[in-house]
Parts: sequence; structure tokens; C-alpha cells
Amino acid sequence: MFKRIGVIGAGAMGRGIAQLFASSGQQVLLFDTRAEAIDEALAFNRNLLQRAQAKGKLTEAELEAIVARMQPAAKLSDLADCDLVIEAIVELLEVKQKLFADLEAIVSADCVLATNTSSLSVTRIASTAKHPERVAGFHFFNPVPLMKIVEVVRGERTDERHIQALVALADQAGHFPAITPDTPGFLVNHAGRAFGTEALRMLSEGVATPSQIDRILRDGPGFRMGPFELFDLTGLDVSHAVMESVYEQFYHDPRYTPSFIAAQRVAAGLLGRKTGQGFYRYEDGQKIEPAEAQPETVLITRPFWLETDDDALRGQVSEVLTKAGATLETGSKPSDDAICLVTPLGDDCSSALTQLGLPAERTLALDSFANWDKRRTLMRQPAARADVVAQARQALGADGVPVEVINDSPGFVIQRLIASVVNLGCEIVQKGITAPQTLDRAIQLALGYPKGPLAFGEHYGEANILAVLNNLQSNYGEPRYRPSPWLRRRVQLDLPLTTPDFQE
Ligand code: NAI
Repeated sequence: MFKRIGVIGAGAMGRGIAQLFASSGQQVLLFDTRAEAIDEALAFNRNLLQRAQAKGKLTEAELEAIVARMQPAAKLSDLADCDLVIEAIVELLEVKQKLFADLEAIVSADCVLATNTSSLSVTRIASTAKHPERVAGFHFFNPVPLMKIVEVVRGERTDERHIQALVALADQAGHFPAITPDTPGFLVNHAGRAFGTEALRMLSEGVATPSQIDRILRDGPGFRMGPFELFDLTGLDVSHAVMESVYEQFYHDPRYTPSFIAAQRVAAGLLGRKTGQGFYRYEDGQKIEPAEAQPETVLITRPFWLETDDDALRGQVSEVLTKAGATLETGSKPSDDAICLVTPLGDDCSSALTQLGLPAERTLALDSFANWDKRRTLMRQPAARADVVAQARQALGADGVPVEVINDSPGFVIQRLIASVVNLGCEIVQKGITAPQTLDRAIQLALGYPKGPLAFGEHYGEANILAVLNNLQSNYGEPRYRPSPWLRRRVQLDLPLTTPDFQE
């Protein structure tokens, strides 16, 4: 086990890494080219620890012991006795390579050199080292003490012993170590691409507004934050750079295509919270939530007809329509003035009504993936009459549950976003980037998703997800939505998505 850890770079990440390991009993030496950054970091950490003490999480003696284990290093050569050095300096390849070259001249032969890089290749950072086998990635998340996960990144030449030693170190500090090979975005920043890029894709097609998309995804799958709120929190400049970097590194695989919308907004300085304006406006740091549309009350004059095999959904629709004073027809064909509701998977309303031969002016679609008790989604299409939309919206919300009206979109909002998340998760395990269980745990810990990608697949039904993707792909004719073989095979063989590729 490592005993003496050098941390270089005393910024947001370095100070957190120092605090984590000082708290778990290691001696930590903190170095930064700006001496004042070290003082600030140590004062910042002491303050955090004092707050923990005030809440009764630490004794005074424990606090003093932790603080005493974090010492400033006046010069790089003070790190000579360290058995592990973790760098968290500026994200520039040449600067990190130079730092490791300088360190190799100082530290002993068995000292491990770790990089907290979030976007550079660990292998490339190691490529100029005398001993690339001692270089590994150790990628933490901000704020380090609270985000209980770290990616342990295996460069092409990293010695397995060092990987295991970093895993043990993370474990004893209470962080979940997710081992991953050195691939673009590693594990978390790779798996996280679907959420933002698919949301931007929907925005670019005029499917719904950012606040609608956020509301639908909070109340449906239960994300703590919608994609646009998340862009605003992270800073669109940071998120867009990650989107571009992963896309470039995967040689323009259309799964990762970034959005021109993000590029333009970055150019305009609409970065989010930090500039006071992003997808939302901020006043005194508080998000101004746009009011939800309050449509005028209309008279419900038409009966409804629903196309679905799902008896539970039929029951729910029937119940709310009764509340609205409307009727749900039971015939196999709609009557001449009925509002027809279809429930497609991965198709848009236009395709679904065409396939079923339903009247375009009075056919709308209802999302079967929505959380019925919290928020419903009604999808219109270009031929739908406004009075039909108004009546359907009012009737389906007669019990007070909000109804979002969105424009035609293959897979509504939830289906296509969740299918993209599941599909990318499947692709990641197919590529051997991580084991299925590690993927789900890492994503929940690092990104705060209510479920991991594979668990989302199970929740909505693996076959449903595959159907959504197949239909998205045929609606758009784009390889962006091609189903991962991992997903397809497990649906074909009726196996859980966590099933490995072969039996031991
Ligand atoms: P930061 O800007 O807060 O801190 C960087 C610190 O490094 C500064 O105090 C700077 O004076 C110091 N520094 C710069 N060049 C140096 C050198 N050659 N030698 C010694 N010290 C030097 O940056 P932050 O956010 O802490 O990021 C550091 C690293 O961690 C970057 O590689 C970043 O990509 C990565 N990272 C950042 C995350 C974040 O959320 N901020 C998350 C995960 C990784």
C-alpha cells in the first residue's frame, strides 16, 4: 500500500485528492507552481473538515491528524520519497509529459506516476516517460471527497501491479475503483455522451424546448437533472469540448456527433450558470424556471380511441378520460370523429398513423415510457388539427397530472434518450471497456443516474429498447442509432443485458 503520496496541482481536483488520502491515513505532500495555490488549498480543506467536525462527522483530534498529514511541498524535489505521485495540473499533453520527465529524475524506481487527466490519452502522456509501465490514469470526479468513484486507467504499457495497487488504495479510501482501458472518455465520460448529445439532437429538430425535455426526463426516468440543466451547471464550453473530443477520438462515429447548437451557444458566451445565461437564465445564482404552458380550457366534444396492447395503460387512459367526461371507444376501429391515440416505440406519430391507416388530422401519440402518475407526453404531427390537440391535452390531464405536448419525434423524448443511453452502455461493455456490473455502478456514482444504462434497459424492457433503436434507425436512415450487437444478441437469446459474452 502506498504510504507517502505526492499531489501536484493544488486546484479543485488536487486539493480534493489530497484531502481524500490524508483522511484515509496516507501522508500527502502537495505541490503547485503557484505557492499561494497550496496555501489556499490547505485552508480550503481545513475549512471543509471543520464543517464536517461541526456536524459531528469528525472529532477534533481526527481533524488535526488529517490536517497534519497534508503538508506543502516547496519544490518538486521534495517529492523524492513519495511512492505515488498524482498529477492534477493543467490539461495539456506536453506540460504533463514534461512534469513526468522531471519527476522521473527525482523519484525512486518503484514510484508510481498517476495522472488525473479527464480527456488526454494516458498512453500518450506515458509515451515520453522513461518507464511508461509505471504511468497510470487515476481519474477522480469533482468534488473528490464526495464523488466516491475513481477510474483506474490502464495505459497500453501500464504494469498490472500498479493498477491493482491503485485499486487497493482507492478501496481503502472508500472510493469505488472502476478499472478501464485507455479509451476515449475512459468509462464515465464515454457513457455520459448519449444523454447530452441526444437531447441536443432533439432540440435541433424542434421536438420540444429545453425546459420541456428536462421536465420530461426528471419526471419520467427520474434523472435528478435534465440534460440542459446539467449543461448549464457544468458549463457548455466544458461539455461541448468533451463532446468534440470524444467524437474526434472515435474517428467521427455518428453515435457521438456533437451539436452545432452547442458550438454557437459557446461562441455567444451562453455557457450556463457561470455566465448567468445558458439554456436557462440565472438571477443571483438561482435558475429562473420558465412557466409551464397553461392552455385555455376547451370543450371536449370528441370520443377517444386508443391503439395499445397494454391493458394497464388502457385502464389508466380510460380512467382519466372518464374524469374528463370523455369516452374511450372499445371498437377495433375508431369512429368517424374520435381522437385516435397511438403508442409507437421508436416511430414518430406520422409513421405510426400511416402504418395503421388512421386519419392524420385527428391522430396523436402517447408515450408509453412516461411515468403516468407524474407527467405525460402527447406528440402531435404536422397534420393534426389544433382543436384535436387541445381536447386531447385537456382530457389526458383531467386528473391534474401535467401533459407535455411535443412535436413529432421518433421515440418521443424518453424512448430515444433512454435507448441511446442503454445502447451506448451496451457498446461500452461490448468493447470490453468495462464489466457490465462495473458500468452501472460507475455511472450511478459518477453521473447520479437513477439507474445504470443496463438496468435502464431491463426496466423499460430490452426488446422494447431494441425496437426503439431499430425504428429510430429506419426513420432517420442513420447509423447513429444502430443497435449494439451486445443488445441485439441478448434480446435474441432472451438473456439479461449483464450476461457476459461467454460462459466460464
Ligand atoms: P485547476 O485549474 O483548478 O488547478 C490546476 C492547478 O495546477 C493550478 O493551481 C495550477 O497553478 C497548477 N499547475 C498548472 N501547471 C502546473 C505545473 N506544471 N506544475 C505544478 N502545478 C501546476 O484545475 P482542476 O480543475 O483541478 O484540473 C486539474 C486536472 O484534473 C486537469 O487535468 C483536469 O482535466 C482534471 N480533471 C478536472 C476535473 C474537474 O471537474 N475540474 C474532473 C476530473 C479531472
